[in-house]
Amino acid sequence: MTEQVRAAFEKIIELQLARVEKMKAEDDFIDYAKLPKLIIGVCGGDGIGPAITEQAARVLKFLLKDEIASGKIEFRDINGLTIENRAAVGKAIPDDVLAELKECHVILKGPTTTPRKGDPWPNIESANVAMRKELDLFANMRPVKVPEEGIDWMFFRENTEGGYAVGSMGINVTEDLAIDFTIATTQGSDRIARLAFDYAERMGRTRVTAVTKANVIKTTDGKFLDICKAVAAEHPDIAFDDWYIDIMTAKLVDQKRRRDFQVMVLPNLYGDILTDEAAEFQGGVGTAGSANVGKRYAMFEAIHGSAPRMVQEGRDKYADPCSMLRAAVMLLEHIGETEKAARLENALNVCMFEEKKLVITGRDTGATCAEFADYVMSKLEK
Ligand code: IPM
Ligand code: MG
Repeated sequence: MTEQVRAAFEKIIELQLARVEKMKAEDDFIDYAKLPKLIIGVCGGDGIGPAITEQAARVLKFLLKDEIASGKIEFRDINGLTIENRAAVGKAIPDDVLAELKECHVILKGPTTTPRKGDPWPNIESANVAMRKELDLFANMRPVKVPEEGIDWMFFRENTEGGYAVGSMGINVTEDLAIDFTIATTQGSDRIARLAFDYAERMGRTRVTAVTKANVIKTTDGKFLDICKAVAAEHPDIAFDDWYIDIMTAKLVDQKRRRDFQVMVLPNLYGDILTDEAAEFQGGVGTAGSANVGKRYAMFEAIHGSAPRMVQEGRDKYADPCSMLRAAVMLLEHIGETEKAARLENALNVCMFEEKKLVITGRDTGATCAEFADYVMSKLEK
């Protein structure tokens, strides 16, 4: 092994051991009720991000107008998280933007472009992934509901470890040998498992399912699974089972079995893949919002990408804002505004599935995202 490769490997271990120490020392969840003022940052992102985020922020400001007027909640625009700025400084999140983000408690974020090989952009890390790591947003909660099929799932995707933890630190050992790393820690697995079980307890759900590939990825997935089992033992009133990711992707299309799943907890990459599949049953990734939750910060976003082609073709104003509006529902729930969350969720269900007076087609054959947001606002019954 060359000195360089050894040093790169050592660096990964050092950073991860330091992260473990940080997790050991971390505080409990922040209590929003005790804050004099809650700050909500709004980050438009790239592509269709600004168009759909603006609408979700408008609806949120409408619902929270009394809290804004009394100074209990402040909205802040954070404009610098664009691919142009990120490319210019060669960082997934420019320093000034990160500082602005850290002054907020809660963030509403539009999709950001993730550069990949062959793009005009330098191959910097995804802004999503960087934000999840920088703000330690360890739990990615992704709900999927298809009421007429009896589907009511909540996914708890671990958000800071697995293949993503050091995804940008892989090593080309020689011209022929490339190695990436996947990471699991006791603390990281324990906190996501606990959150999933606490959620099941709180919401009256009766089953939690862990999804891994512990028969092959024995050490890291094995740890994740063992820890889920240990947390399950503390919750004898909740049924626990575990599945491997391959058969799980099959079971989600099994109409007789899939409705039995309730709460799923899974390592990062499996969570990424399975939640796209799951969202498809609900109408596609455009319909799904997601909460990225940590002990100090939380960030709410769509689960899809920035669709730059829609902007190139001048169609961004026709983009579907529903994913960001679903993310806004989760934001309201997270800050304890459960009644307003329910009103928004109900209005979205009426507009998307029941009345459907306006439809979004992504082109001028359908409504604009601003018109759709107006429609949703008109249905916000008290
Ligand atoms: C998601 C996205 C991201 C991920 C990408 C953009 C890096 O697919 O939020 O699911 O893989 O986590
Ligand atoms: Mg994904």
